[in-house]
Amino acid sequence: MLLNIPAHPELRKIVVLNPKGGSGKTTVAVNLAAHFAANDCKTALMDFDPQGSTMRWAHNRPQERPFIHVVDACATNPRVTRSFQLRIPPDVRQLVVDTPAAMSAQRLSQFTRGAHAILVPVLPSDMDIHAVSQLVADLLLVAKVSRRMGRLGVVANRVRENTLAYRRLMRFLESLNIPVVGQLRDSQNYVHAAEQGLGIHELPPSHTAKDIEGWAPLIDWVGQRMATPLTPRDLMSPLQAVPGGVLVRPAAAPVAAPTPDPQALAAGLPPARRYDPPAGRS
Ligand SMILES: Nc1ncnc2c1ncn2[C@@H]1O[C@H](COP(=O)(O)OP(=O)(O)OP(=O)(O)O)[C@@H](O)[C@H]1O
Ligand SMILES: [Mg+2]
Repeated sequence: MLLNIPAHPELRKIVVLNPKGGSGKTTVAVNLAAHFAANDCKTALMDFDPQGSTMRWAHNRPQERPFIHVVDACATNPRVTRSFQLRIPPDVRQLVVDTPAAMSAQRLSQFTRGAHAILVPVLPSDMDIHAVSQLVADLLLVAKVSRRMGRLGVVANRVRENTLAYRRLMRFLESLNIPVVGQLRDSQNYVHAAEQGLGIHELPPSHTAKDIEGWAPLIDWVGQRMATPLTPRDLMSPLQAVPGGVLVRPAAAPVAAPTPDPQALAAGLPPARRYDPPAGRS
């Protein structure tokens, strides 16, 4: 499915992705959208996940809450063009894109192109840490998202601070040199809010004060990214079309995936997997 979001110059785009299922993509996406809408920013939320969790959240959202324009990017309607289906009203200023699990490396670049911010939620478990090392490699190498552009940020999700898993995750992320821009507590408030179509900021503050603390740095970071204009590099397509219509990565010397530092290894963390381009991708 080709991503062809008809954008306008004032539209800012945040993409939430991690091919690992259940890492918190939808949670981060809907909470960000609810936050923007509550702050008088015309907001759209786009759901590329066929599971439709974001669509369900939007369906549950009470009408009296700040309006969010929702686009079901998985709906098929043969009577309209793809770009018509994905159209965003011209008064929308903020777009939040929720992506599906199990997305291929090549598809990543369709989402990251033209994004003002790319957020990767990660759970503190060894399996998730391994998965994210591959994802970061794919983002840097295949989608050509550069660390220096500063548009890529990790959100440590379902954090319980005094656990070994949390400390391993933080040390690992530090070793990747990718900023951890937010830490969200493991809290049932996210589950309750989601059931009601609300963001955590829309629950009674007496119940959520600690959860909301974790959002402050994330919202600051996102605000800075939104205020930083896109460069031609942000808009560049890293993939080249070749005869036959197959998309391939431009030929380049193989590069190793980012590996954790020796300290991270000493902490008992297995090494990050090296980046092996799948067969057929040059
Ligand atoms: N910080 C949190 N605290 C408690 N529960 C959470 C938190 N973040 C997410 N969850 C719960 O974990 C589950 C998975 O989260 P979510 O649906 O956001 O992940 P996802 O990455 O979108 O999953 P998928 O890959 O299936 O789309 C949901 O039930 C959600 O309510
Ligand atoms: Mg989801």
